[in-house]
Amino acid sequence: MHEPNSQSESSTRHWQALEAHYQRLKNTPLSQLFAINPLRAQHFSVEFSGLFLDYSKQSFDESAFHSLIELAQTSGLEQRRDAMFQGNPTNSTEQRTVLHTALRNPDGEDLVVDGIDIRALVKKEQERLAVFANGIRQGTIKANDGGPFTEILNIGIGGSDLGPKMAVEALRPFAQEDLRFHFLSNPDTPALHAVLREIDPERTLVLVSSKTFTTQDTLANFSSVRQFLAQGLGGDEAAMRHCVALTASPQTAIHQGFAPECVFEFWDWVGGRYSMWSAIGLPILIAIGSAQFNAFLDGARAMDQHFLSAPLNANMPVLLALTGIWNHSVALDRSVMMAAYDSRLQFFTPYVQQLDMESNGKHVDHSGSPLTRPSGPIVWGGLGINGQHAYFQLVHQGTQRVPVEFIGVLKAPDQDSEHQRIVFSNMLAQAEALMVGRSREHIKAEMIEQGYAEDHAESLANHRSFAGNIPSTTLLVEALTPFNLGALAALYEHKIFAQGVIWGVNSFDQWGVELGKVLGKTIYDELRSEPKQDEHDSSTQALIARVFNALR
Ligand code: F6P
Repeated sequence: MHEPNSQSESSTRHWQALEAHYQRLKNTPLSQLFAINPLRAQHFSVEFSGLFLDYSKQSFDESAFHSLIELAQTSGLEQRRDAMFQGNPTNSTEQRTVLHTALRNPDGEDLVVDGIDIRALVKKEQERLAVFANGIRQGTIKANDGGPFTEILNIGIGGSDLGPKMAVEALRPFAQEDLRFHFLSNPDTPALHAVLREIDPERTLVLVSSKTFTTQDTLANFSSVRQFLAQGLGGDEAAMRHCVALTASPQTAIHQGFAPECVFEFWDWVGGRYSMWSAIGLPILIAIGSAQFNAFLDGARAMDQHFLSAPLNANMPVLLALTGIWNHSVALDRSVMMAAYDSRLQFFTPYVQQLDMESNGKHVDHSGSPLTRPSGPIVWGGLGINGQHAYFQLVHQGTQRVPVEFIGVLKAPDQDSEHQRIVFSNMLAQAEALMVGRSREHIKAEMIEQGYAEDHAESLANHRSFAGNIPSTTLLVEALTPFNLGALAALYEHKIFAQGVIWGVNSFDQWGVELGKVLGKTIYDELRSEPKQDEHDSSTQALIARVFNALR
């Protein structure tokens, strides 16, 4: 397939139109846009399945929105989307197909890529996974001493950690109660010991999650956990009966001592950060069981269908993508803050952060030419109310504009309506405050009315005023069910894909993480043997020496 150039003539024309819209609108207060169009909230919102997206607090009007849609159309988004779903190579720098969407549709139309029946492959492995997960849940797959497994330890990092950890936490109310889940990603000694203190080797099932099965952090953690199990269970053979591998490189896992029946496979065409729908999702499957896991896949598939079929101007992932395009590439905002107002979503921001920043943190287009406008934003944030008492200050009154994505969940299990009112009043008030701000004149008049002396009110007015006009979107999730969580995660996957297409970047490689790995290997060798002279700059050299001395 012909790779789009980020600077084609028609796209240049649309970018120019958007820049003209931005110049026209940049001094128009957001509240004025609402005054001009009383139907704005209705026009700029979309509902699909259990998700409702309000993007009306964004700083574009109907005409600028129209240009955004035109940009999406001429970027080839629809063609590239269809090509991805059909298994045409989409990851141009690694010549790989990108087919994580096939994982949530094993019963769909035939999908044969390079002579391989993708549906059959997926289905077979999903069946193996379901049988295994069921066995763990029901205690029919037994630990070495004949008892059940009750501690599930996932060892993995990046995409082999963030998605499963996010989903297990979000779906805790659906999880089997006698199972406890642990996630070990960092190889630092305190992280390892914290996990080892919590688990009993006799009850622990270890899932070693690694697409490549070569990631140093994961393998180091696995090696130490393996020794810990061996000590507790009376040898390595017994230890390995407590371990399974989730990987796209099964032979490497087998080579390291895993029995073939303890290896669950996924494939090259599933990117690490898109892999929680595959064998990497085994912790989720064990937690919630196959019926609910299928609902999780169904939710993602429903979002896939929506992304494939809804017109661009009513297509939730595309609309979310276009708000980001407007903010980051036209208004030149450098980051986006995510604020989730439900503790079950506490790991959602780190999950989206990898998904987004590893996918679209790129500086060249498909042809290798430098991008002419900013692409992927810095994604940050966390739980909204905690953030309000920490970093929201900068968003309200700092010197850079930070667009916000609010996420709220309407129904909680065993809901205490009073608590939920507090939560939602906070969320909605923040979005409103960011938008309307408060002028210094208003503040001053208010203070004088409260009895402040004129000069005191004057001196404080600048400190207490808010510029406002900070754009935000609000996403309401009906209830945090497996289905809706699947749809929510797929929404972000497709948002990021759509942005990548519009920016003309390859969202599916991650060359930027490689240099650190290569240099890390060199330094690791020096820390093991002896620091080399004149290999590094003087700062790195001196730091290596200090660490070397501390560790010997
Ligand atoms: O270093 C980045 C990365 O390759 C991510 O893309 C990936 O999710 C993570 O490391 C873990 O890789 P693996 O699953 O192969 O251990």
